[in-house]
Amino acid sequence: MLEVKNLMVFYENAIGVNELSMEIRTGQIVGVIGSNSAGKTSLMNTISGLIHDMRIKEKRKGGVRITIMGQILFEGRDISNMPPHIRAQQGIVLCRERHPIFPDSTVDENLKIAGHLRNRAEIKHGMDMGFSLFPNLERWRKRKAGFLSGGEQQMLAIAMAMIVGPKLMLLDEPLLGLSPAMQTQLVKALKAIRRDTGVTLVIAEQFARPLLPMLDFAYVIENGMLTLTGSGPELMENPEIKSAYFGV
Ligand SMILES: Nc1ncnc2c1ncn2[C@@H]1O[C@H](COP(=O)(O)OP(=O)(O)OP(=O)(O)O)[C@@H](O)[C@H]1O
Ligand SMILES: [Mg+2]
Repeated sequence: MLEVKNLMVFYENAIGVNELSMEIRTGQIVGVIGSNSAGKTSLMNTISGLIHDMRIKEKRKGGVRITIMGQILFEGRDISNMPPHIRAQQGIVLCRERHPIFPDSTVDENLKIAGHLRNRAEIKHGMDMGFSLFPNLERWRKRKAGFLSGGEQQMLAIAMAMIVGPKLMLLDEPLLGLSPAMQTQLVKALKAIRRDTGVTLVIAEQFARPLLPMLDFAYVIENGMLTLTGSGPELMENPEIKSAYFGV
């Protein structure tokens, strides 16, 4: 479904992603595991195309020069130069880090904003799905999103991404800052998304332990480079992973 070939992302002289290649098959849940500054967000932003917007913005401001090299293929087509909104229409949807939602709008309004490119029936269907995955959201439909807990805001961000109609959903640190109970709930919801909708998921995470059991495949990255690959359960048994990411 998605192929990343020798991807490199530079920020002026700093390297974000270094010669990275990966392949994601339809229906998989794939992890991208890495510590702070490993390049997770750079990778997610490059797959979603958001980095092109950042690049143009930086250029206009005379700020950081961003250089991207390599190739990204989606369903066999080269999308390397495709802008992010077209990628979203094609089914690549990014749920950005730190659950960016509109805090002054209600839960309902946030979901409708996310669905602005979809028709009424699709929005209704998406909202029903979001509420069945996350019953708390339904309870707080009329509440301003800024008043939701961190976990609920993350759930809203995922429900918003689902309404866009993804084939491939990219999640950047969805578990960040959540309590263990909330993390468990979210992991369950991600599994349900895969099971009930067939959406392919790529999840970037630093503390990936709660995710590992369900990962069909995982890429461990450090300084923008691949250091290790394997299925989630394989990585769970790996002593290097245990000490680096689980603190044992
Ligand atoms: N806009 C930018 N300008 C300059 N350097 C950047 C920019 N964004 C990221 N970098 C650098 O690229 C490298 C990778 O950063 P990135 O944000 O992709 O990592 P990350 O794995 O998402 O980290 P975190 O866990 O902190 O979110 C870092 O060294 C970072 O300083
Ligand atoms: Mg990041």
